[in-house]
Amino acid sequence: MYREFAKYYDKIYHRKNYKKEVRVLKKLIRRYKRSLGNDLLDLATGTGNHIAYFCDSFNCTGLDLNEEILAVARSKGLNATFVQGDMQDFNLQKQFDVITCLFSSIGYLLTEAALEKTFKCIYHHLKPGGVVFIEPWLEREVYCVGSPHMEIYDDNDLKIARLNVSELKKESIAYFKMHYLVAERNKPVEYFVDEHELALFPHSLLITKMQEVGLKTKVYAKGVFKRRTLLIGLKLEKV
Ligand SMILES: C[S@@+](CC[C@H](N)C(=O)[O-])C[C@H]1O[C@@H](n2cnc3c(N)ncnc32)[C@H](O)[C@@H]1O
Repeated sequence: MYREFAKYYDKIYHRKNYKKEVRVLKKLIRRYKRSLGNDLLDLATGTGNHIAYFCDSFNCTGLDLNEEILAVARSKGLNATFVQGDMQDFNLQKQFDVITCLFSSIGYLLTEAALEKTFKCIYHHLKPGGVVFIEPWLEREVYCVGSPHMEIYDDNDLKIARLNVSELKKESIAYFKMHYLVAERNKPVEYFVDEHELALFPHSLLITKMQEVGLKTKVYAKGVFKRRTLLIGLKLEKV
């Protein structure tokens, strides 16, 4: 997952407006954060594209499972720390004022047990008065099985086409077999496949799991990205 794709990640998602997303998130942080510090942890940070806009006002740490994608994040020279780890089971020996888990990354957790472990870890890493933002993946009712998808990147030196047809693995697991064709100047055309599975959990289940660890929850239905809602979890100041 993401291994060969890591170096092309930012190209494929070049239209995603991370700057605008962070602007909205900063507004929500001002509304909900009660702790006094500015330590921010971005779980499943990818190539650090949200951190790039957070690090002017927060001390940022990014955590991701995938070393290849972290290498891209580190190469950007951002004023941030990037650590390899699994969001289900990490211990950074530090608490944060803000934790984010964006762009449906929580969907990579395929079982309720994995969600429970992750929310426990998040709660443990939040300062009292801290806030967590979870941007969930789609729910089963709105996930269209059989839809063809294509993303294109095109500049003078690099052309990428990514195609897939959305599939279902089990009733509640979306499956993507992404076919990549990459043409780079002075290199033979490359073809590779990148496979992904994401759980189509009802958002109500995520909310319940957040509440079970002690978070007070809010829903920001408008979200920061198309067709995605945003779940907000607050750790009370006195715990
Ligand atoms: C869709 S990308 C999102 C990356 C980034 N948050 C963004 O908005 O561009 C999903 C990321 O989740 C990471 N990931 C998947 N499972 C993970 C896990 N269990 N723990 C930490 N990171 C994980 C992947 O390596 C990948 O970088």
